[in-house]
Amino acid sequence: MTPASSVGSARLGIQTGPSGSLSRRRLLGLGITAGIGVTVAGGLAGCSTAFAPKQGVSGQTGKVLKSQIDLPQPFSIALPLPAVLTPDGIQDGKTRYTLTQREADVEIVPGFATTIWGYDGTFPGPTIEARRGEPIVVRVSNELAVPTSTHLHGGVVAPESDGYPTDLLVPTRFKGRVDAAMLAMHKRAQVQGQQDGSSAHQHPTDAPAEPDPKIWTLHRVAKDYHYACDQAASTLWYHDHRMDFSAPQVWKGLVGSFLIRDAEEEALNLPTADQELLLVICDRSFDADGQFAYPALDPTLTELSGVQDDYMDGVLGDVILVNGVPWPVAKVSNTRHRLRLLNASNARQYDLTLSVNGESVPISQIGSDAGLLARPQRLDSVPMSPAERFDVVVDFGTFPVGTEVVLENTLATGDSGKVMKFIIDEAKDDRSELPDVLVKDFEQLRRQDAQKTRLFDFRMTAERMWVINGEAFDPSAAGTRVERDTVELWRLTSDFNHPVHLHLGHFQVLTRDGREPAPADAGWKDTVNVTPYGVTEVLVKFTKFEGRYMLHCHNLEHEDMAMMANVDVV
Ligand code: C2O
Ligand code: CU
Ligand code: CU
Repeated sequence: MTPASSVGSARLGIQTGPSGSLSRRRLLGLGITAGIGVTVAGGLAGCSTAFAPKQGVSGQTGKVLKSQIDLPQPFSIALPLPAVLTPDGIQDGKTRYTLTQREADVEIVPGFATTIWGYDGTFPGPTIEARRGEPIVVRVSNELAVPTSTHLHGGVVAPESDGYPTDLLVPTRFKGRVDAAMLAMHKRAQVQGQQDGSSAHQHPTDAPAEPDPKIWTLHRVAKDYHYACDQAASTLWYHDHRMDFSAPQVWKGLVGSFLIRDAEEEALNLPTADQELLLVICDRSFDADGQFAYPALDPTLTELSGVQDDYMDGVLGDVILVNGVPWPVAKVSNTRHRLRLLNASNARQYDLTLSVNGESVPISQIGSDAGLLARPQRLDSVPMSPAERFDVVVDFGTFPVGTEVVLENTLATGDSGKVMKFIIDEAKDDRSELPDVLVKDFEQLRRQDAQKTRLFDFRMTAERMWVINGEAFDPSAAGTRVERDTVELWRLTSDFNHPVHLHLGHFQVLTRDGREPAPADAGWKDTVNVTPYGVTEVLVKFTKFEGRYMLHCHNLEHEDMAMMANVDVV
């Protein structure tokens, strides 16, 4: 394989924003090369990507970290549902909640106590149920040993509450510097510069005594996140977004769901109550003590960011958890069920199928990342890259009581290809419906609506950095300036599978590799998988707020290793 990276960046040669002699881009590039001492010029280690994907789906990007303990028998543990967060009360017309990030010991694999980092000490964290048009405030506090930033993924949120990576909640226990990872790269780059006399580092600057306040916003005890909830009914989620360390911190458990409900959706009479299941799917691996294993370069998550070189493409676990439980089983009635599927994995992609004795079970998709589709559509499988949500309805009423329905991932084999099982164990009247039309006045964007076209290229450079348009993330760099309430056409290209995600803005997929989008691309989205050497065109719209947001790859290992860029909405 030729290094597509160098080809790509040379061909595109796009520069976004200023890059001074101390730009993070340079530092990171040298840092990675110098710090790890491995240069793979001609190949991408750990890349097991299928290069002939079916539209909208692809193979796996990343490397499996093998668990060191005996794993439970799939489909033996009951599916739990995350608790719904109880409000503290109402203040100034807004419902208030609190969430505390803390460690807890949880029995995930029977017989082992796994120390998680969880919102309220649970993994996944409690589900926040909000209503459209009713703003809420969530006070997040941090009892962990490391800084955090809480991002509401898919939320239309003011910039101060968006969970920007350098807008941190720093616990009193944290004795390190929030910018240590950037400084470490800086230092390594200086050493490298002295060794090879590279001109980029002739003028090393001493590290500033304090984190630069233009880049870092530090909150101490707690931070109030204000959520407008002025958006369509949808399945959102919240997770950690700390600069350089999101991947290990999410892996430790900092994930939760956030549902927005509204009257329009309720009028549809979709399956609800115990016929509505939220399924947070993610993979993890366990070390010999039953703790989450993660190949961090710095397991204390204070000084160095990034993962061991073999795992640069992404960390894959060999245990599939649904709502924090390995390969669970759920007892269900013989009725329609609404499944809200969320891929909360760092890097793992899924192509989910449902079957009974090998016979495929029809799946009706009703919603995507950012809300309901115009009308339901049949899917043979549900392709989910990291951070995507699929809202689907499955009719268990077509099977006799006693039937077992298996949810599997066809992109993996063995137990890693299993997800969970449903056992239809109760006959019940079904009062729910699956209407033909879900959203009457669905706003379908068209190519001619776009006022601007932009190109964003996602790939690895010859120096083994994950970059967008040739640039590694620099929080101080000027962002792409986008006008609020206008439609733009963004052309996304890539070398790998890159689940591309946008804060604040939502989009519709216009084309995929020059063809019609895949069925699973339908609806309003905030994350889309750009397949290897693929071109995905999306029509993007930012509404309601202005300020600094971001665009990034949601493979969390790529994200931590700088595959992010600023977007300034004006
Ligand atoms: Cu779910 Cu910026 O991410
Ligand atoms: Cu997001
Ligand atoms: Cu990526």
